[in-house]
Amino acid sequence: MVKKQPKILMAAAEAAPLAKVGGLGDVVGALPKELKRLGAEIKIIIPFYGSIDQKKFPVAQIGKPLTIVTGGGKETFSVWHHYLGPEKIEIILLRHRFFDGQEVYRGGRVGSHDRYTRTPADIKRFAFFSAAALAAIKTLGWQPDVIHCHDWHTALIPDLLKTVYKNERFFSKTRTLYTIHNLANQGMVGPEIIGFTKIDPTLPSIRADLKNGDLNFMVQGILGADLVNTVSPTYSKEILHHYQGAGIEKILRKRKKSLSGILNGIDTELFNPATDPLIAQNYTFKTIKNKTINKSALEKAAFWQKNKTPIVGLVSRLVWQKGLELIDDVLLELPCRFVILGSGNKDIEDKLLGLAKKYPDKFFVKIGFDLKLAQLIYAGSDIFLMPSQFEPCGLSQMVAMRYGTIPVVRKTGGLADTVNKLNGFAYLEQKQKNLIKALKSALDTYSTKPDKWLKLQKKGMDTDFSWGEAAKKYLRIYNKLILANIK
Ligand code: GLC
Repeated sequence: MVKKQPKILMAAAEAAPLAKVGGLGDVVGALPKELKRLGAEIKIIIPFYGSIDQKKFPVAQIGKPLTIVTGGGKETFSVWHHYLGPEKIEIILLRHRFFDGQEVYRGGRVGSHDRYTRTPADIKRFAFFSAAALAAIKTLGWQPDVIHCHDWHTALIPDLLKTVYKNERFFSKTRTLYTIHNLANQGMVGPEIIGFTKIDPTLPSIRADLKNGDLNFMVQGILGADLVNTVSPTYSKEILHHYQGAGIEKILRKRKKSLSGILNGIDTELFNPATDPLIAQNYTFKTIKNKTINKSALEKAAFWQKNKTPIVGLVSRLVWQKGLELIDDVLLELPCRFVILGSGNKDIEDKLLGLAKKYPDKFFVKIGFDLKLAQLIYAGSDIFLMPSQFEPCGLSQMVAMRYGTIPVVRKTGGLADTVNKLNGFAYLEQKQKNLIKALKSALDTYSTKPDKWLKLQKKGMDTDFSWGEAAKKYLRIYNKLILANIK
């Protein structure tokens, strides 16, 4: 007896296109559309950041302001909503001084909080948001079957349901799914935050966690949620081991039976070389010759002369995770040119800018976010590079393949699940010589085996990277949770 229309609440820090910093935003923005098509009833809840463009995304207030009591005193917030896209997915936005006039994250510049760092500036904002989200949903009277929480920002919701809302009939049937998008940001803080959240400190998950000294929001989500998943099958296995477990592999192993991996999709309507309005010339596999018009446009954007040398593109957050330390002078000896777009860690940005200065004819970097240039890189490059240290899923390699651009990647996480000999090039161990070998064999194929190159392009362009399959799998998980409830 499975519910035909399960009610699902997505709770997250980002939802594209209103508030997007990275892949998390893409997922929370795209998955609901597909779930709705499959019959689920979906709402998304995110903070109302000052950075949300209200001209593009008109909002309306729902009801009167609400007040919750935190350990720090009373906090008042208001509830707003926007109906997203032709599917009219309701996005609920919580407005509070923590988010007014603010970007999504305060812990430094976009994506700059690196490897397992603490993010104190953001902890209180998202602890408050998680508590306020439950209060808002209860006031709206919309009873979710499942609250689908994403990453550390909303990882306290399962604990809040078990303690603060323990005796509320309203949530008595609500179950939780926690999706790990990235173990690098865990939301770590001293135990004093427990008082602020009003979560019962004797909760077994909190007791287990505090053994390490700090309270770790990611750990709370993993231990507290009814089921847990990551964004690719390979990453869900890698994180059980020391080398990819980001220090919490033992905790993950405790939940091994409740942990699965579901590969993300991409928005194949948005990322379509046949219709993309941002590229110089649209094309399909049949008209792949027109891809060169985009290559010329990319050369122009990089202030280069037109020539036959292959272009290697990279669009990424510039952070440790992405393995960019492998890019240096040695790579510049290869017979190719590099175009890089992204922002993040200042040291990485400076290093790349230094290379661009030294090799102006071969190395172009733009620091920042530029949607048009990003699309031109996907369409105009011959090769797309992702030398990631780890990659929970990775969306860019799928976008690149859809544009007939051949990926050269490290075989890890979602990259291992999507790139293979039939559509690209991959290397296993994170060493520069391995990356160079993979790049060399791609460049060699490009220049001496045009038929094989075309085959690789066709395979990538023909593959279905849409959200359809993933949404069906998520629906199965939701139903599993609901079913367990009915019994
Ligand atoms: C994070 C991960 C990336 C994944 C994305 C969406 O940004 O680093 O691999 O694709 O989340 O799940």
